[in-house]
Amino acid sequence: MTIAWNPQTREWHLHNGATSWVLAVLENGWIGQLHAGAPLSPDASYRHLYPPFAGFDNRMPEPVPLAVPVPGVGDFRVPGLVVETRDGATVLDLQYATHRILRGKPALPATTGVRGPMPATYAEHEADADTLEIDCTDARSRITVTLRWTLFAARPVVARSMTIANEGAPVTIRTAMSATLDLPDGAWTMLQLSGVWARERHLVERPLAPGRVAVSSVRGGSGPEHNPFIALRRPTTTEGAGEAWGVMLAWSGNFLAEAEVEPFGTARVRIGENPETFAWRLEHDGVFTTPEALVAWSDRGLGGMSDALHAVLRRNMARGPWRDAERPVLLNNWEGTYFDFDHDRLVAMAAEAKAMGIELFVLDDGWFGARSDDHRGLGDWTVNRTKLRRGLAGLGEEIHAMGLQFGIWIEPEMVNADSDLFRERPDWAIGVPGRRRTAQRHQLVLDLAIPEVVDHLFDVISAALDEAKVDYVKWDWNRFITEPWTPAVPPERQGEFFHRYVYGLYDLYERLVTRFPGVLWESCASGGARFDAGLLAWAPQAWTSDDTDAVERLRIQYGTSLAYPVSSMGAHVSDIPNHQTGRTPSLDFRAAVAMFGTFGYELDPTRLTGEERAAVQRQVAFFTERRALISGGRFDRLRSPFEGDGNETAWMVTAADGARALAAFYRVLFRPLPVRDRLRLRGLDPAARYEITRWTSFDGPDLRFIRGGDDLMRIGIGIEPADGEIVEGDFPDGMRLVRHDFTFRLYDIRRVTA
Ligand code: DGJ
Repeated sequence: MTIAWNPQTREWHLHNGATSWVLAVLENGWIGQLHAGAPLSPDASYRHLYPPFAGFDNRMPEPVPLAVPVPGVGDFRVPGLVVETRDGATVLDLQYATHRILRGKPALPATTGVRGPMPATYAEHEADADTLEIDCTDARSRITVTLRWTLFAARPVVARSMTIANEGAPVTIRTAMSATLDLPDGAWTMLQLSGVWARERHLVERPLAPGRVAVSSVRGGSGPEHNPFIALRRPTTTEGAGEAWGVMLAWSGNFLAEAEVEPFGTARVRIGENPETFAWRLEHDGVFTTPEALVAWSDRGLGGMSDALHAVLRRNMARGPWRDAERPVLLNNWEGTYFDFDHDRLVAMAAEAKAMGIELFVLDDGWFGARSDDHRGLGDWTVNRTKLRRGLAGLGEEIHAMGLQFGIWIEPEMVNADSDLFRERPDWAIGVPGRRRTAQRHQLVLDLAIPEVVDHLFDVISAALDEAKVDYVKWDWNRFITEPWTPAVPPERQGEFFHRYVYGLYDLYERLVTRFPGVLWESCASGGARFDAGLLAWAPQAWTSDDTDAVERLRIQYGTSLAYPVSSMGAHVSDIPNHQTGRTPSLDFRAAVAMFGTFGYELDPTRLTGEERAAVQRQVAFFTERRALISGGRFDRLRSPFEGDGNETAWMVTAADGARALAAFYRVLFRPLPVRDRLRLRGLDPAARYEITRWTSFDGPDLRFIRGGDDLMRIGIGIEPADGEIVEGDFPDGMRLVRHDFTFRLYDIRRVTA
């Protein structure tokens, strides 16, 4: 058990050797958070860190760290919980009532009046995690707040959530943060993953200063502008060393992630559903549970923080048979054909894909209704027989007969005004009665807050999946929500709309995933506009960005890796000139980037030359031999495209047993006579020796050498071949200088056992 309660000092200590969280019943009955982060001895008391606390009664009160901060009681920092009680006030006095220490991780209590589960981490075995629940009660309103911490075994990661139960008169919850984290100082810089369509999750960093910094979404989805994740690092923290915090929200709707430094220099971080677009009426006997937040601490740098989050997302958030299975290399027809395809063209593409070693054929947008372009058809999930003369079943049959898996694209949450569904049920599209609806991409969003809509979608999507016998589904979401309003609740409860929409989405996912348990689900939202930990509970991979340009992808995948594992990042090789940027990197460069994701192709293979087909075959063979290492290994960022002139990026993956690793270095533009440069690796055994083969194309390795782990990590591999690498193999052209743009080096690293 990693959670201890000391009744004498009234402290709880969550500790697993990797991190410690110390909580206490303060003198006034509130719950304080005395410490979070570095591991501490579980036997000592830490009450000396703060003076006895009777409330914020002094003129200059000590900024005591609190587990559930509320407004209006002298704590003028940003609150974690705001509840409007019957008298219209928002003042609560949450007194410690009781607590439970539980093995494993119980399911989160369901919110009253919504269907579908909240996505949350789980512990497969009791020994994988321990959970502390503390109940605090406000006697006047008869509200009980249950605060929840789950500590994962051997990982410096804590899952946080809160449940509010009402035994009194109805109240309105105005703010319910999933986690607040009070830190004793504000000497941090904040990293956020920000961008827009086609350049999602770029790394942006700014120092904390007195006041508040925040990222958020009001778009109805987590959005491409900001990701529901922030990190804090000390100014001296690097990728490999120093303190870092990572805070993420498992929620696919509007969110807020914020850090505040108050006048005494302490910091409060909070993350949760965005209070700007949220208000929840909690009736007598009602229960409301917040989404779950994950909070990771590391003193092994940003790399340690990412590794901890990756591990928990991979093992404790993703579920089903695809959690641990190797994901198939796919061909998606979207950029190859857009809407211009028929049965025969798809079959021809699939046959070429099979010949190149590709394992899954995915039919993207355009197979249903009258969907000849993006103006019509969404909502009508019956196959378009003009395009697919043998239907989905016939196409699926032919594809399966080739020995390929078969997948399809859906966008269930949407409807075109030009569709049978909209003509029949215009009231199912989100909008405020009497006002115009804003269309984006010529489409409207269906109101998933209405259970009947979710039931309908479950039926029609199930029928399509049954017909096609699909192995894979790509679930898209191509616009944001405007004119938010739902007939599902009365006017005074419209603050619940966005939350109820996301619950409808989760309900639909849960029912479809349960009905089709063997299917591999990939989420998508115009690329990466809903890339969050919440959807990873059902779809273990997500289309990372519509931008398939390999150079742009270096930044997007690098940024995404701060929070999310390689196994979650859909990445495809596409045609040149690239459809988003017009760039023309080589086929091998494109593959060397896309390989560090759930790998696939998105082009028309029948248009490749024979030489290109052979190259693809070699790329697929290279990847599949290393697939388990790439998608399951520890990911380390070695060189950032967000630093310097951004011309170079490097990263590596290392197997858990340390026997194999793969490092990648990318240079976008050729520079004459580049400065001598060495790439220092991480995570190897300094005492071991490694055989390294270097690949600058997928034709085969062009250099082989043996080095000590200490040498590789402390001195590094010379990037330029002319800087004295010891050539031990028969590669006489090891000194060859490569003079062109878009070059890469892959270093295949194997521990030498003899
Ligand atoms: C947006 C997605 O991100 C693309 O990959 C593609 O599926 C299109 N939608 C289809 O409309």
